[in-house]
Amino acid sequence: MNFETLTFEQEGQIGVLTINRPKALNALNQQVFTELGQFFAGVQSINIRCLIITGSGDKAFVAGADIKEMQAVDRHNGAEFARAGQAIFQLIQDCPLPVIAAVNGYALGGGLELALACDFIISSEQAKFALPEVSLGIIPCYGGTQRLSRYIGTAKARMIALSGDMFSAQKAREWGLVAEVVEAENLLESCMEIARKIIQRSPLAVSLAKQAITEGKELSQAEGLQLEAELFAKAFSTEDKTEGINAFIEKRKPEFTGK
Ligand code: CAA
Repeated sequence: MNFETLTFEQEGQIGVLTINRPKALNALNQQVFTELGQFFAGVQSINIRCLIITGSGDKAFVAGADIKEMQAVDRHNGAEFARAGQAIFQLIQDCPLPVIAAVNGYALGGGLELALACDFIISSEQAKFALPEVSLGIIPCYGGTQRLSRYIGTAKARMIALSGDMFSAQKAREWGLVAEVVEAENLLESCMEIARKIIQRSPLAVSLAKQAITEGKELSQAEGLQLEAELFAKAFSTEDKTEGINAFIEKRKPEFTGK
């Protein structure tokens, strides 16, 4: 894979995808979106079981949508602009692989929205978060008004989106937006540690658990429980289930094949 605005590295079955526009604090321009779309369209052909997304440099994860490009957005193409970005972030949310956001600095606007499309967020203690769109006379458009309230509740989402104020990683942790806050120099290694645990599990079971939680959030509890039962039954049609249960009974480590 050859990208200009993304870099991809692999350590065993863990992939690290870096948004790489440091001069623009990794702001999301159309090229980043195109390349993210290409990456996620082919992600299942790469031999990885977990993906970490981060930003290049030590200042920003992603400082938002590219404001300079947004000068060309108007009343007529605004919805199309929003839908195109939303579609790419939906690919991340729907990706069968677990995706961890390693937030290494500013996660503003589209940057926070990118992190929200991932499965969970691990943050450096120096990261700063915001939905600052209202200071630009616009509103979030890559899922921020929808995913944030589902993540941390309506009142806190309103406070963040209406004030446009920046808040610290510690506040983000307190509000349940961030799963863990770690020292900046340990961020990637901390994400790797979590990823190393995830890749030891059955990749099919991991993917089904992700699907149950992600899709279940949009359903009533009764529908969610039905979905859980169906996905549970699906797990029982896999070789990984036989291996996992046999390994427990035989007191050995399971060797999952993802079948
Ligand atoms: N788009 C385009 N370029 C950006 C950018 C963005 N979102 N954020 C930063 N940059 C560029 C700056 O223009 C600057 O480029 P030049 O050197 O060519 O002038 C470079 O990155 C470095 O930025 P600063 O000099 O501003 O760095 P700083 O340390 O003084 O400030 C900052 C850092 C507080 C993050 C500041 O850059 C900032 O406020 N950025 C904009 C944040 C923002 O409003 N994001 C939301 C965008 S809208 C959005 O995302 C809508 C949506 O829902 C999709």
